[in-house]
Amino acid sequence: MSEGPLAGKGIAVQVAGTGSHLPERVVTNDDLSETLDTSDEWIRTRTGIAERRFAAEDEGSLALGLAAAREALGAAEVDPGEVDLVLCATMTPDYPMPTNAALLQRELGLENAGGFDMNSACTGFVFGFATAASYVRAGVSRCALVVATEKMSALTNPEDRSTRVIFGDGAGAVVLRPTPEGEGSDVLAFRRGLRGDERVLTIPAGGSLRPMTPERLAAGEQYIRMKGRETYKFAVRTFVSLIQGTCEDAGLSPADLKVVVPHQVNMRILEAACQRSGIELDHCYLNIDRVGNTSAASAAIALDEAARKGRIERGDLVLLAAFGGGLSWGSALLRW
Ligand code: UT7
Repeated sequence: MSEGPLAGKGIAVQVAGTGSHLPERVVTNDDLSETLDTSDEWIRTRTGIAERRFAAEDEGSLALGLAAAREALGAAEVDPGEVDLVLCATMTPDYPMPTNAALLQRELGLENAGGFDMNSACTGFVFGFATAASYVRAGVSRCALVVATEKMSALTNPEDRSTRVIFGDGAGAVVLRPTPEGEGSDVLAFRRGLRGDERVLTIPAGGSLRPMTPERLAAGEQYIRMKGRETYKFAVRTFVSLIQGTCEDAGLSPADLKVVVPHQVNMRILEAACQRSGIELDHCYLNIDRVGNTSAASAAIALDEAARKGRIERGDLVLLAAFGGGLSWGSALLRW
C-alpha cells in the first residue's frame, strides 16, 4: 500500500537523534558449531553472519531498549519530560503485559508521554517509525521516541540450526521532532503491506488460540518455525518492489538514494535485491556480519550506526526497508 508523496503534507519531520545497544556476549559461528550440526563456513557463505550477540539470562528486551533510548535522547539533546509519545516495536517484550512502552516511561522518567508497543515482527521498527512520524506530521506529537528492541535468543530453539544461527539480540532508537525552521528534513514516502500467512514464519504456541501447555512446551512450540527458502524468495521480491515503489512515490530513482538501511536479513538476499533494483551494494549500510538478524531492532541499529559513522548527513536521501513475519513489509524514505 502506497501513501503517494508526503512532502508538503502537514508538519515536516526530522530525526533529531539515534541510539543503539548490543548486549555484551558475542556468540561466534564456532561457538554455535559446538552444540549444533553447522559450521562457520556454512553460516558465512549462506547468510554473511560471522557473529551475533545474545543477551544474558536475566536481561530482557526492555534493558536493551532502555540503553538505546538513553543514547537517542542524549543525541537529540531532549529532556525526558519533552517526550510526548513512546512507541516500542518488539515481538519479545519483557512481559505480555505491561508493555515495554509503559516500562520505558517509568525507567526513563517520561512524565508527559503516552504510548504503546507494536508487534510486526521484523517490520516493527519501520512501522513504529512511520506511525510516530505520522503523529508528528499531524501535529499530535512534538517529540516522539521510537524504540525497537528484541531478545531473539529467547525465541529460537537452541536445537534448531536453521533459526539459531540467524537471529541475534539488540536494540535501536530514534527521536522524531518537527523539522526546525530553515532545515529541509522530512519523510518523503512510506509503504506498507501484509500477506497473512502462518506457514512460512510462525511461533505456533503461546497465543490465545494455542496457549502454552506442558506438551506444547516439550514439543518446542514456543520457538520460531521458519521455512527458510520461502522466506528467502519472499524477501528478495519484496525488497526489490519496496525500493522501486517507494522511490517512485517520491518522484525519485533508486540511484538518487545516498544510503539504504535495510533489515539485515541475509547477505545473499541483500546482494540479490540490490543488484535487481540498481543499487550499488556499498550504498547499503550492512552490519549483518557482526549483529546477525535482530528482527524489529535490525534496521534501527543499522540506522544509528550509519548516522554515527558519518555515512548519513543532513540533506541526504535515506531509505529504510524491512520485511518479515506476518508476512509484512514496510519502508520509509527520508530527507535526513
Ligand atoms: O527476518 C526474516 C527471517 N528469516 C530469514 O532471514 C530467512 C531467509 N532465508 C535464509 O536466509 C536461507 O534460506 C537460510 C540461511 C535459512 C538457509 O539457506 P538456504 O541456502 O536457503 O538453505 P536451504 O534451506 O535450502 O537448506 C539447505 C541445507 C538443508 O539440508 P538438506 O535438506 O539439503 O540436507 C538444511 O537442513 O542446509 C541445511 N541447513 C544447515 N546446514 C548447516 C540449514 N541450516 C543449516 C545450518 N548449518 N545452520
